[in-house]
Amino acid sequence: MTRRTALQGFGAAAIAGLSTGASPVLSGTSLQSIAGERQMLFGAAVSAAHLRDPAFRDAVIREVGALTAEIEMKWSYVQPEAGMFDFADADIVANFAQAHQKRLHGHTLLWHRSVPQWAVDDWRAKPEWRLVEAFVGAMMTRYHGVESWDVVNEPMGVGERSGALRSSVYLDAFGPGYVAKAFHTARRHAPAAILCLNEFGLEYDTPEHSQKREGLLRLLKDLRRDEVPIDAVGIQAHLDLASQPAFNPDLFADFLNALGSMGFQVRISELDVKEADLQLPLEERDRRVAEAASRFLQVALANKAVGSVTCWGLSDKYSWLDETRANRGLPLDERFQPKLFRQAIAEALSWRGVPASTSGNKDN
Ligand code: G3I
Repeated sequence: MTRRTALQGFGAAAIAGLSTGASPVLSGTSLQSIAGERQMLFGAAVSAAHLRDPAFRDAVIREVGALTAEIEMKWSYVQPEAGMFDFADADIVANFAQAHQKRLHGHTLLWHRSVPQWAVDDWRAKPEWRLVEAFVGAMMTRYHGVESWDVVNEPMGVGERSGALRSSVYLDAFGPGYVAKAFHTARRHAPAAILCLNEFGLEYDTPEHSQKREGLLRLLKDLRRDEVPIDAVGIQAHLDLASQPAFNPDLFADFLNALGSMGFQVRISELDVKEADLQLPLEERDRRVAEAASRFLQVALANKAVGSVTCWGLSDKYSWLDETRANRGLPLDERFQPKLFRQAIAEALSWRGVPASTSGNKDN
């Protein structure tokens, strides 16, 4: 039996067991403990505001090994006006991580959606890299304990441009070389940090996702050729049940293999599941969410280049997917109780411990 065949069996069995509550898997063991046994990290995005909720804090302390600030380290948040930095909320997340011995992932240095308006206005008159340099330097100096940073977030285009760099304020101001320049800048300020390129829309067997995978691989190959200091690729994995039929395990495994063979670490950086039908009974909704996560994680975690899984939030009480809290796309429900999604993560992390000799090494 190859690893992949075994994994396919695992997915169905795991979810069947979960739905009856029959699976013994590790409900009393934290996700980070399970991940840690496999030298992996389990992380979650948190925000300073949500950390004021004691139940949320407890859940994060219990389950998570690494934190990502959901919004507080973005440029427009830290420097809404020229000449001033406001680190107060980013500090709340960083101090919480330190107080509870959690790792901190820096998110995100360059993102077209988080450039402050004053910088956009400046660049219209005169594109000056020194503004990027100052922000990157300020963040990497203040949060020098951060082990990994999203240096460039979502550089690829959408729709017809999905195989090329997106049209953005960075591309307009600095041309296509801005990606390499960003990584060189980051490396100067944090010689030992893991520098990541983070992207979404890479999971499905659709023309847009396929073009984006191919375009991203081309970009990464060029960056490697030019010795640009990039260590890791973040696959956001905002899964979507409407697109889920287009998840093709072989195609996604090939993509991971391509990244791994180029020497990149791979991080699942923003996992959550957007539902397609909120009218279904709760049990069925949770089963569908867990099944999608399970199918995805089976493939992702079969590849040894993948070293971490981070969810974009932890509880449905606080999710960007739906501020009315209707969506159930995170591992814990809005009362912080574990759902099948949590179980699917635990199962997938546990499965990673299966020795290669009994499962074949086709996908490694
Ligand atoms: O806090 C204010 C609130 O006071 C105000 O009433 C409300 C009105 O819209 O806005 C609130 O702030 C919002 C904030 O989320 C907190 O909810 C911002 O407008 C909104 O822009 C912000 O959205 C965040 C978004 O990134 C932009 O920064 C989402 O929470 C966050 O989940 C999302 O995260 C991104 C990743 O960085 C990159 N990948 C995709 C992911 C999801 O879009």
